[in-house]
Amino acid sequence: MNPVLLIRKKRNGEKLTHAEIDYLIRGYKDGEIPDYQFAAFLMAVYFQGFDFEETKDFMEAMLHSGKVFNLKDINKPKIDKHSTGGVGDKVSLVLAPLVASCGICVPMISGRGLGHTGGTLDKLSAIPGFRTDLGIRQFKRQLKKIGIAMAGQTPELAPADRKIYALRDVTATVESIPLIAASIISKKLAEDLDGLVLDVKIGSGAFMQEFKRAKKLARLMIYLGNQAGTRVIAVLSDMDNPLGDYIGNSLEVIEAIEALKGRGPDDLMELTYTLGTQMLKLAGIKKGKRFLKEKIKSGSALKKFQELIQYQGGDIRIIDDYTHLPRGRYQIKFRADNSGYIKKIDNFQLGMLLTKLGGGRIHKEDAIDPGCGFQVFKKIGDFVKKGECLVKIITDEKTKALIIKKELRQIFSISNRPCRHKRLVRAVVR
Ligand code: URA
Repeated sequence: MNPVLLIRKKRNGEKLTHAEIDYLIRGYKDGEIPDYQFAAFLMAVYFQGFDFEETKDFMEAMLHSGKVFNLKDINKPKIDKHSTGGVGDKVSLVLAPLVASCGICVPMISGRGLGHTGGTLDKLSAIPGFRTDLGIRQFKRQLKKIGIAMAGQTPELAPADRKIYALRDVTATVESIPLIAASIISKKLAEDLDGLVLDVKIGSGAFMQEFKRAKKLARLMIYLGNQAGTRVIAVLSDMDNPLGDYIGNSLEVIEAIEALKGRGPDDLMELTYTLGTQMLKLAGIKKGKRFLKEKIKSGSALKKFQELIQYQGGDIRIIDDYTHLPRGRYQIKFRADNSGYIKKIDNFQLGMLLTKLGGGRIHKEDAIDPGCGFQVFKKIGDFVKKGECLVKIITDEKTKALIIKKELRQIFSISNRPCRHKRLVRAVVR
């Protein structure tokens, strides 16, 4: 087959066959199709889309590009959660150990930052020594021992997603419903799950801006999962606001540890409990939020996170002493120009500013600065007084911070009329 002809075919809006899709995925994974051709193909898909059959073929080719777990010998319900991506979204760091401490097995394959959104792997990599490149045997051994593993795609595990994900990140080809659905469901089906809970984000900081499109994505992922015999529930949640108070890899690890200590911000906890309750339901546990709260209160969830860090080679001193985590030396405050109510936050641009500060990638091979980020003091609907701090920039790079401070002015719209607070959990779809 000729990749140029297949790119052309999709560019012209024609349907690709099963064999053609298989060829493209295999060819790219094995290095026969170069980045520039696959990037052109992704852009053609971005504009022309896939029908359901093509999406399923694409997802299955990605799933079978690597090994698929067999976790039948683990005698616990295997349930995972995945988010479509957002700004300040550190839910997985809190939720995975929390649910694992309830006796559920959580085999979580995550991704790095994508576009303007942060990635669980980049956050975990901020922990000194933490390994995210687990082999299949180690992953499984760890699941058996402690009921949780959090790792990235590897040449063995979801290898096609590993390469395609990194390419989409830097070619503006993320916001495509079939590409997102195939990426997420292929990784998750490789985990041999009994159930999956999806957090589908909607709003300026999400890949789906409108409720209708987010629901379409949720339904597609549920259908793909169900067809493969996995029960899937999707929670549709707001991403017009950043989630929690911090944005930036290491800062979000600290916020997640605080949450596991019972001191998490309200929005982060609300979403964690909502998703956690759905995960427990899929596992046949009916006690829900009360059970989850008990696990935080008793310290079991925090202990599970500590175990996870220890098993994956990370420095467990970070649990009690945050100075062992990277953190920018300078703190520069951005203050409100006038008093009023926060009407809008351009959450997409806020995510892009983190990249500009060094916390995300512009090129595939870019190293990121794990210690930089923002502390955000106000959300949509909050009142702010003139001169009050809206955002604290945390960084080692003062000059960059001063440029970003100026750009933050475009992020917040302030109105003198009261504005409604955003509802965080918008719907649950099954
Ligand atoms: N998360 C993924 O794993 N893939 C996407 O495409 C988007 C979010």
